[in-house]
Amino acid sequence: MRKILSWFAIGLGGLAALAAVLLIVATVNTNSRAARVYDAPWVAIAIPTDAASIDLGRHFYTIRGCIGCHGENLAGGVMFDVGPLGTVTAANLTRGENGITARYSDAEIARAIRFGVKADGTSVFVMPSAEMTGISDEEVGQLIAYIRSVPPVDTEPVVQRWGWLGRILVLFGQLPAYSAEAVDMTLTPPASVAPAAAAEYGAYLAIACTGCHNPAYSGGPLPGAQEGEPPALNLTPGGELIGWTLEDFKTAMTTGLTPSGRHLRAEYMPWPDFAEMTATELEAVWLFLQSLPAKEFEER
Ligand code: HEC
Ligand code: HEC
Repeated sequence: MRKILSWFAIGLGGLAALAAVLLIVATVNTNSRAARVYDAPWVAIAIPTDAASIDLGRHFYTIRGCIGCHGENLAGGVMFDVGPLGTVTAANLTRGENGITARYSDAEIARAIRFGVKADGTSVFVMPSAEMTGISDEEVGQLIAYIRSVPPVDTEPVVQRWGWLGRILVLFGQLPAYSAEAVDMTLTPPASVAPAAAAEYGAYLAIACTGCHNPAYSGGPLPGAQEGEPPALNLTPGGELIGWTLEDFKTAMTTGLTPSGRHLRAEYMPWPDFAEMTATELEAVWLFLQSLPAKEFEER
């Protein structure tokens, strides 16, 4: 009996040692990735000042999903704060206290949006920057014009912190962390993209769906999903939208009501933001989704 107990103790000790090593590896890994300085290209962008462009900036801020993290007043706020996981805060984009825009030049904001790189060259935390790299120069200009136009909001200093579990999940690629890592810094985005009811324009917009519906648009669990949260659904012709018409799609995206009478839950599927899409934008996204290869749920 005593022998068994001592083996048990050795086993436990071994496990504890293993956990300690794992934590050290995860800490070194995440710290070095956080400190990495990126040589991201500078973007020379003209920032418009007319009301129509600022309004387009507000439009894209909404339909690209920035609003979901940075909020209606652009002041950001805590996205999650869970002891062992960590704390992630979306930046305050206003020129208020602890906002970034009083300190940042237009070129620095443009580089942060497009490449996920901060003014000091380190990576932005958690923001899906790879979805924004291809945004046209013109639209980045409109976004910045809008960001610069909003009233200042004062906030507390931003806290970004990984807990031990967060670090281990980041080490194993289970949590998105350092945005710049996923960005293609060699991409040359278009100067401007003209709206058109065409699949190509739909692809340009629908990249904002990939963070949840996955890059193949075939659905799957939401990033960091808790038990009981619905998965994002399969938007390819192999999935949920079989038999839908363009009108059905427009209704679902603007009212949350699907042809089968189901109500999409806005806290998981942000349709009220997509409801701001124009008829042309919705048709473009629809045509793009219809042009995709049919996939099974979660198939990449
Ligand atoms: C999934 C949530 C999320 C979305 C969507 C998102 N952001 Fe962010 N963003 C963040 C977080 C979190 C930070 C703070 C990053 C940090 O401090 O490292 C941030 C930081 C920023 C920064 C400042 C970077 C810096 O240098 O400190 C800018 C500018 C920005 N976001 C603009 C945008 C714009 C414009 C959009 C839409 C096109 C957008 N964000 C969409 C989460 C998001
Ligand atoms: C923040 C995550 C998120 C984003 C971003 C997102 N979706 Fe969704 N989507 C979901 C979730 C979750 C559901 C399931 C909602 C439910 O069951 O209530 C869903 C459901 C849907 C449905 C309904 C399918 C059905 O049969 O019921 C459609 C259509 C859809 N999304 C289209 C889109 C499009 C197009 C975009 C991009 C313009 C997009 N979604 C962006 C999370 C997201």
